[in-house]
Amino acid sequence: MKQFIEKIVAENDFKAERLLAVLRAVQAEYYHIPDTAIDLISQQLKLQRSQIISVVEFYSFLHLSPRGRYDILFSDSITDQMLDKQNLMQYMAEQLKLNIGEVRSDGLASLDNTSCTGMCDQGPAALINGYALPCLTNEKIDQIVSLIEQQRTLSEWPAELFQVEDNIYKADMLLDQAINPGEALNATFKRGLTATLEEMQHSKLRGRGGAGFDTSMKWQFCCNEPEQERYVICNADEGEPGTFKDRVLLNSYADQVIEGMTVCAAIIGAKQGFIYLRAEYLHLHSALQAVLNSRREKNLLGENICQQDIDFDIEICLGAGAYICGEESALIESLEGKRGIPRNRPPYPVTQGYKNKPTVVDNVETFMAAAKIAVIGGHKFANTGTAKSTGTKLLSISGDCQTGVYEYAFGVTVKDILVDCKAEDVLGVQIGGPSGSFISNQEFDRKIAFEDLATGGSFIVFNNSRNILDIVKNFTHFFAHESCGFCTPCRVGTSLLRKQLDKITDGHGSSGDVVELEQLCQLVNNYSHCGLGQTAANPILTTLQRYPELYQQQLKEISYEPGFDLDASLETARRMAERDDANAHLTQVEQ
Ligand SMILES: Cc1cc2nc3c(=O)[nH]c(=O)nc-3n(C[C@H](O)[C@H](O)[C@H](O)COP(=O)(O)O)c2cc1C
Ligand code: SF4
Repeated sequence: MKQFIEKIVAENDFKAERLLAVLRAVQAEYYHIPDTAIDLISQQLKLQRSQIISVVEFYSFLHLSPRGRYDILFSDSITDQMLDKQNLMQYMAEQLKLNIGEVRSDGLASLDNTSCTGMCDQGPAALINGYALPCLTNEKIDQIVSLIEQQRTLSEWPAELFQVEDNIYKADMLLDQAINPGEALNATFKRGLTATLEEMQHSKLRGRGGAGFDTSMKWQFCCNEPEQERYVICNADEGEPGTFKDRVLLNSYADQVIEGMTVCAAIIGAKQGFIYLRAEYLHLHSALQAVLNSRREKNLLGENICQQDIDFDIEICLGAGAYICGEESALIESLEGKRGIPRNRPPYPVTQGYKNKPTVVDNVETFMAAAKIAVIGGHKFANTGTAKSTGTKLLSISGDCQTGVYEYAFGVTVKDILVDCKAEDVLGVQIGGPSGSFISNQEFDRKIAFEDLATGGSFIVFNNSRNILDIVKNFTHFFAHESCGFCTPCRVGTSLLRKQLDKITDGHGSSGDVVELEQLCQLVNNYSHCGLGQTAANPILTTLQRYPELYQQQLKEISYEPGFDLDASLETARRMAERDDANAHLTQVEQ
């Protein structure tokens, strides 16, 4: 083990900020992070043991006790559940002769759930040792179990099992006319860096990761900083359940995304960039690395890019299973080798980001669009879409319809989208993932645009056979699972929301419970530290508003389960929220 760890640490240049990469390698080799490994890493990277353990405990894909040599995680997105994932998983458990959530006694296999793996267009999906297994069926499970029992290495498995499709059904400005490698950079250098930033302003491009901040303004703020050491980060964490369009861009349009990052680097004067790739997209890693190498060979990355006085290179950093790491400041913490806990903001990353230096963090699609703007100019880009939402939006469409990626000019109505994706008998659409809004079939004239329905791209269709409360339950469990635990209103609040909602949907709630549920929602949304907690109650709030009768139908006048005192828990959470006393009372409430 000593030799292995020395090798891995050396490959990571003995840098403490590469801790996650080191731990990922140890996990892959030993199926957990053994205690001896922690000692060795601690010596080699000069980190406290406690610090390393806290990082291991934070990320879902790192473990202190051994997982199976074949570690299978079923995606638990609502769309996987709609595709009968639970029965498939049970079937696999029976075939492997183990229980869900357990490691088999001979250590060969383990089976568990994980949050959405970004395959909602080709579910039910799972991961095996981090690699995606889409479109699972009973037959495929038989095949997989047989390969596991024969202990065949993954490289020997039939490639079809790992075949991930793009599923692009509608292409517009970005997907239809991808630029050639170097086109945006040549246009940028010909026009000049300042003039290209002006084109970005004319384009009115807004970030595609969800918040919709003006991209040129972000880049300008970064340029304004006196500090010269600057960074560019591509946020490829794509953890919002129902979203997968960044996966498609990184699979088939990586050159253009990387070109967008390079244009940004040239403008802001960054020499180093990172692609923070979610762990669930491990299957994309080697192809992305190949694109980076090919661009280095073409002088589109590295030193004196396109014979200009510009040096810039990019490193790919894999996450380790934490939705919160999509939040830009948590992502930066993770890149620095720490737990992904969101920072206080301000200061924003543009002033103090990676290593506290000015940093631009943008979504994959934002960089893709930026490269396009560098080629066609800002005004032409702004001719598409609406006045406040220019250009096009990639939607990841899943659920009860033809699932895949669709590109639309901003301003398209939900109704038109539903026709294109062949959705019928629609009950509603969840737009923007669990943190977004549930749109009922009375509201399908509404538009995809920042001024109406803003979205990072998740668009989940539900037909009338679906039960809205099942959906809300799935989303509420997701937030409780993904809360990073840093602040009390979210950590305690999301778990109380889950308990309270389960109680009502299980038929054990009273009308007073619904009132308390709503109060708890307000508390979590209003007092949480970051965007996760601030939106965690949205699925309940939006459905309580639109479908109060659904909650009423579940009610039964009975007393609370023994041992669970909701009033006391609520009061404690409220007091802690008011005092912002994050940690002291956690154990009290959780017990
Ligand atoms: C809980 C949470 C998760 C997020 N996940 C992502 C993500 O997976 N991808 C992304 O681009 N932005 C995500 N964001 C938004 C980022 O914090 C940030 O706004 C974005 O990367 C900025 O890029 P843009 O301006 O190009 O949209 C998330 C925000 C929150 C609060
Ligand atoms: S709101 Fe939730 S996810 Fe955000 S910092 Fe607090 S505990 Fe972490």
